[in-house]
Amino acid sequence: MTQPPPSEISGSTPHQELIGGAYLRNAWYVAAWSDDIGDGRLVARTIMDEPIVLYRKADGKVAAIEDRCAHRFAPLSMGKIVGGDRIQCAYHGLEFDGSGACVRNPHGTRNIPSRARVKSYPAIEKHKAIWIWMGDKPADAGKVPDFSVLDNVPEVYTTKRDSITIRANYQLIIDNLLDLSHTSYLHDGILGNADTVESDITVEQDGDDVVVARHATNSAPPGMFAQFWPNHPPRVDKFTKMRWMAPSTLRLVTGICKMSAPQETGTGYHAIHMLTPENERSTLYHFTAVRFGVMTSDDNVNRDLQKKVAEMRRFAFAEQDAPMIEAQQRMIESATEPLDPLILAIDVGPVRYKRILGKMLEAEQR
Ligand code: FES
Ligand SMILES: [Fe+2]
Repeated sequence: MTQPPPSEISGSTPHQELIGGAYLRNAWYVAAWSDDIGDGRLVARTIMDEPIVLYRKADGKVAAIEDRCAHRFAPLSMGKIVGGDRIQCAYHGLEFDGSGACVRNPHGTRNIPSRARVKSYPAIEKHKAIWIWMGDKPADAGKVPDFSVLDNVPEVYTTKRDSITIRANYQLIIDNLLDLSHTSYLHDGILGNADTVESDITVEQDGDDVVVARHATNSAPPGMFAQFWPNHPPRVDKFTKMRWMAPSTLRLVTGICKMSAPQETGTGYHAIHMLTPENERSTLYHFTAVRFGVMTSDDNVNRDLQKKVAEMRRFAFAEQDAPMIEAQQRMIESATEPLDPLILAIDVGPVRYKRILGKMLEAEQR
């Protein structure tokens, strides 16, 4: 294994497992997949402790407003859409538009008090997802992280746009994703195996992004990847390249290729991981994948693989990662003294992103 430079290991001292109690607010977060919003649905979310309701207006645009009626604080998400673009509160019928303003009071003189409004949030739709801006600075549409890999791809090569909730701080999930050595243990046989423990690790910083690559040569192909390649050689190179984009989305390219061949000649998928803090100990996790270097031409085989990749990834995240990360959260919370984690060679990615995120949080709070 290539050892990272010593400066990556010592001197960085994240003496706490988590960068304490703050969210980077002036940034875009995924509130939902595009397909989740529409057909008259009111979708409730908690993002950074704030209750939010999302819906699609008659003009097709998505609105995101506070999910707490200004009258007696009923969740607006229990109401319904009326007139194409307003929410009617299910309790006493006040109506709010997409800007959060109360536009109808059915009671008494029908006067609308000037205080009758709820908070609204900028929301845009890009890369098949709904992005929400939680900060007080003007929302900058140019800052949506690049997931163009999801655009204009045949649906059969894209897996289900899925989501789960993990009862843990979002930073523990970034740690998990920026250190894929865990695939050999936690996802043994599916996403990694004993052969992929020995990997060359490289870490680069690209602007504010952190890119962690792992390359294992002379490996048996892990289960999922073997299925992508009929008659694959018995030994292959397995590659992963994970890009963290502040504050909490990640894009991975992973696959297998002939030993020592360029990765572009191999097969695998782009894996999408979008993390949105619900609160300090709960995270909404959206994920999907897009195959590349497709080596299977039969439509039925490709449809079957589309389903299998979605199921396998959901299993890996919900049944393998989530229980581990949630247990880790409980262990961290139960500590009676400050924790000082060991920093190993595999932690160079997590250490680097924490340093960048820490600086961004500091700058925002100043
Ligand atoms: S709580 Fe919404 S109208 Fe009364
Ligand atoms: Fe994992």
